[in-house]
Amino acid sequence: MLVLALQTALNHNHGYITAFYYVGCGNPMTELDTIKEMSDDHKIVRDTLLEMVDTIKKKDVTKAFELLINLDKIGGPHFRAEEETMYPELKQFFGDQYYEKILTEHDTVINAAKKIAETLGKGSLTNEDSQQLVKIIQNEIMPHPITCSGLEILLERLSASELETISKNLEASRKADIPLLEWADSIRARKA
Ligand SMILES: [Fe+2]
Repeated sequence: MLVLALQTALNHNHGYITAFYYVGCGNPMTELDTIKEMSDDHKIVRDTLLEMVDTIKKKDVTKAFELLINLDKIGGPHFRAEEETMYPELKQFFGDQYYEKILTEHDTVINAAKKIAETLGKGSLTNEDSQQLVKIIQNEIMPHPITCSGLEILLERLSASELETISKNLEASRKADIPLLEWADSIRARKA
């Protein structure tokens, strides 16, 4: 199959636009579009979190658990790629202090997901549980898609090879398919 792809990358070192053209058969461009993939993930997470808030307000524990499992599944490869390649590549722009801040934000999301799983695991929700879980989602998980989708403006300043490093890592992380909480407790060196 003939594959024609055009990738335009902003070369931030020299300040000009560089265009790369790949034409051929097979898989010269199998890597994912990093910015689009990350953006799509954030939109799925946003929609899932908003649905979770509605579900928890209705005290539908079964549906809320189902949504949490979806988040766990998408969040594992997503966080893994962010921590293994995306954040380290972006550190050249925002420095060590902000790098630490966004890792701490990941710690907060991981601990929040554990708290939600624990409460939903009781099988039913009191009014107080429901209010507390909504607060956890809004204040401890929602900030991630908000701030992390903002990082897309910095991803646009990476070179094509830096983006490729992230896309290959994201592809491998998705293939490994390890959910967020399992990754956080086993592979992730930093403990939340
Ligand atoms: Fe993210």
